[in-house]
Amino acid sequence: MAATTDPVQAQQNPLLEGLALRRTPDPCALVIFGASGDLTHKKLMPALYALMLRRLLPPRFAIIGVARTEGGDDAFREDMKQAVQKHARDEFRQDVWDELAASMHYVATDFADETGETKLADLLTRLDAERELGGNRVYYLAVPPVAFPTIVDELGKRRTSAGWTRLIVEKPFGHDLESARALNAMLWKHFDEKEIFRIDHYLGKETVQNMLALRFANGIFEPIWNRQFIDHVQITVAESIGIEGRAGYYESAGAIRDIFQNHLLQLLALTAMEPPIDFTAESVRNEKVKVLKSIHTPGPRSVVRGQYGRGFIEGLEVSAYRDEQGVAPDSMTETYVAAKLYVDNWRWADTPFYVRMGKRLARRETTIAIQFKRAPHPPFEETSAEGLHPNVLLVHVQPDEGVSLAIGAKVPGFGMTIRTVHMDFLYGGAFRTGMPEAYERLVLDTMLGDGTLFTRADEVEEQWLLVDTIIAAWQRDRPAFPNYAGGTWGPPSADDLLRRDGRSWRR
Ligand code: BG6
Repeated sequence: MAATTDPVQAQQNPLLEGLALRRTPDPCALVIFGASGDLTHKKLMPALYALMLRRLLPPRFAIIGVARTEGGDDAFREDMKQAVQKHARDEFRQDVWDELAASMHYVATDFADETGETKLADLLTRLDAERELGGNRVYYLAVPPVAFPTIVDELGKRRTSAGWTRLIVEKPFGHDLESARALNAMLWKHFDEKEIFRIDHYLGKETVQNMLALRFANGIFEPIWNRQFIDHVQITVAESIGIEGRAGYYESAGAIRDIFQNHLLQLLALTAMEPPIDFTAESVRNEKVKVLKSIHTPGPRSVVRGQYGRGFIEGLEVSAYRDEQGVAPDSMTETYVAAKLYVDNWRWADTPFYVRMGKRLARRETTIAIQFKRAPHPPFEETSAEGLHPNVLLVHVQPDEGVSLAIGAKVPGFGMTIRTVHMDFLYGGAFRTGMPEAYERLVLDTMLGDGTLFTRADEVEEQWLLVDTIIAAWQRDRPAFPNYAGGTWGPPSADDLLRRDGRSWRR
């Protein structure tokens, strides 16, 4: 297998566009705990296949699936093959699959079981010898958080001095500040912070990383990226799906823990952060954590929560949250949150960040809208500029990934009529390559030891601190749920939140 991506080859092959000059990771074993779960089927295995297809995996490599389900290597390979055929973004190629499958092994074990752990350790030792993996390990914890302590303790006890070890921890990272701190303390008993890779898969999304490129690779935005020129920011993470059979988790999480605590706050941090001195993990995360620390705790009037009732999405009837399987008939879990947040620093003082996120909304859409102030004195008659709105820089995180700038332009004709038009950059039009899935980038970065796109312990803790105070304030009242119909844009009180400030949500 090619050890590096040749830049000439990359220019000729759209599959390799954008990959030139990346290092190839060291030989290593990737151990996936929770190999029979949804995440492995839908995200991890398709991501590994995409990496193999692009020849980005290390030249000497092994994947070890670990789960409770009985079975051996062949059954695991067959199961994963089907997962790749179903969920991969690329066409299925037998030769690529064969190469990947040859690196795959399976260990059936109960995580609390010593014998299972010994089986895994023996297999790793054997693979080290056979494939010269040098003792390098990536452990992926794709299991429910209750299983973390046992696995982490076992791994810690069995650590050797050979090679490097990295640990990928899936979300949710704790349930509140206290549990997140306890989890950090537990991980630090055996692993150094630099060896811990906490997943927030939004950071693996191309368009999210493009926020950094947009802001810091272009000289024109930074001078106006502040309270003087920006009226407010709107961040939307809207989903049309419901809870997809995950009541067990969602009932105790709700939108605030599921999306606000992680994805939403990370989007806000990337939008509001100062330019880092370089693009290393520490510099980028130092700047993000400063933003998280500066977020002013919103008062109760600045946070709105909602829960969906019955409704229609794309013509199909959808049930109320309380009627979903596994949800309590009087559940008070929120499926929608909107808030007005302030970042208390010189750049952003008095500039509201309106954020909203929810399930069963009208459509799937994640956007960051930077709404600029009105032109100070448009010299036109009022009627000629009726169709003109203030400039907006809209980052489409998903779907229809791209960036668009709303500007005023003259309508062709003999008078002076101005209307808002859009200058659009669409990924699909500008680049030949398809959009990588977040997990491809995140798995590769872990193998490369690059933690830039992972959440550091202090970030997670700041995020929980804010969420805990919001949740504590919620204990005092009981909203009349459900308060929005499926397929709408959330409860009316979310509109009031902006209306009070003379503003409205983007539609
Ligand atoms: C996950 C949440 O972290 O993100 C899910 O647990 C949510 O509830 C998902 O649906 C959204 O991710 P994406 O990539 O589809 O926007």
